[in-house]
Amino acid sequence: MIEKNQDFEVNISDMGFEGEGITKIEGYTTFVKGALKGEKAKIKMLKVNKDYGFAKLLEVLEASENREEPVCSVFGRCGGCNLQHMSYESQLKLKENVVQSTLKKALGFDVPVENIIGMGTPYHYRNKVQYPVSDEKIGFYAGRTHSLIENEGCFIQNEIADKLAKDAFKILQKNKVSTYSEKTGKGCVRHIITRIAKNNGNQLMLTLVTNEEKLKNADKIVKDILELYPNITTIVQNINTRRDNVILGEKCITLYGEGYIEDRLGDYKFKISPLSFYQVNPIQTEVMYYIAKDYAGLTGTENVYDLYCGIGTISVFVADEAKKVFGVEIVEQAIIDAKENAEMNEKRNIEFICGKAEEVIPKKYAEGDKADVVFVDPPRKGCDSRLLETLKEMRAGKIVYISCNPATLARDLKYLTENGYEIEKIQPLDLFPQTHHIETIVSLRMK
Ligand SMILES: C[S@@+](CC[C@H](N)C(=O)[O-])C[C@H]1O[C@@H](n2cnc3c(N)ncnc32)[C@H](O)[C@@H]1O
Repeated sequence: MIEKNQDFEVNISDMGFEGEGITKIEGYTTFVKGALKGEKAKIKMLKVNKDYGFAKLLEVLEASENREEPVCSVFGRCGGCNLQHMSYESQLKLKENVVQSTLKKALGFDVPVENIIGMGTPYHYRNKVQYPVSDEKIGFYAGRTHSLIENEGCFIQNEIADKLAKDAFKILQKNKVSTYSEKTGKGCVRHIITRIAKNNGNQLMLTLVTNEEKLKNADKIVKDILELYPNITTIVQNINTRRDNVILGEKCITLYGEGYIEDRLGDYKFKISPLSFYQVNPIQTEVMYYIAKDYAGLTGTENVYDLYCGIGTISVFVADEAKKVFGVEIVEQAIIDAKENAEMNEKRNIEFICGKAEEVIPKKYAEGDKADVVFVDPPRKGCDSRLLETLKEMRAGKIVYISCNPATLARDLKYLTENGYEIEKIQPLDLFPQTHHIETIVSLRMK
């Protein structure tokens, strides 16, 4: 009988999807955060469920050759990078294996997965810093909690964007602006978000998310920020009065500049507003878009759908090789950006609609429209079943599925492969080094 607080010496025989070590104690599956496959370790049982348990790593007795000293001093406490104790090569292998095994399990057959595309320098790649602010502190949430862990400097953030966020916090404190408390729902600043356009002269956007419209000493705050960052592009206040986990509210007030920044990807320029989604790793995003475009095999005659289109990046990338592109996105501001992006890049064959893909596309199909090629790039929860049903009926010749969650990708691929599509290629790509997140591009063809 295995009990809580019992110590064991174990061999770690496998790795879980979030980089946890897995061991079997008398056949009982136990997850050990921080342990690596191939290691011998001393562990303490923390939680004993019916089918599996969780243990704490007390000591590594024999280390794996893939183990590395994490570069960050808050590794293990901060909920951000959970793979920093693994060599980058072994992180990539883990992600490749996760894609392979998740798809095989869901589909019931082996699928050919290409070698994952990693980064040359897998640090400081993020163009967006998003710090919660609470109880006079700024930092990241500790894993699965809402207590804040302060850090000196984060190894996956862009250094300028990271410093701007911390400096903005100091300026807010200096100007006596209160911080929000999740417990009471009182206090002003909830999040500080910065974005940097790495490919466009490091344009900078600072967004202060507040719990109320009143921002004490707003003019002085802007002045102080401009003194430290005279080249900052824009400063925006976003108002979020909700009592839940959603970070941004719907209303933005521009405090300085135009309220947006512009970045470059490939040969194109994109306007990005605070409320719009923009991929966080621009280096890998370019690679990803070119692969997606290549998978689509466009010839200039196709009617193309870009579903979950954000600010229209994929639409703009493929417009020259398509007859017509139709983009759908749920966030209104992103569609406003997308329309301007099409205009700015002189793409006249793109139409954008704001709405839910699962509502807009069935309606469009009922009206007689049909795509030859469909790009889908949904959020982590994957595609809505109503959208998949319509794609099945529409029988588009090609679907290019871009996914940030192998579990929902596997679920959706199961549906599509059982309903007329076959998988041509699966390409994992590391968009999020040091974390367990995985991006995958899949090309599907109507049989
Ligand atoms: C992973 S992002 C991809 C955006 C874009 N393709 C890109 O590469 O930047 C997913 C996008 O889907 C949008 N979205 C979420 N649910 C949606 C829905 N039901 N219908 C349409 N868009 C949705 C989000 O606002 C977000 O912009």
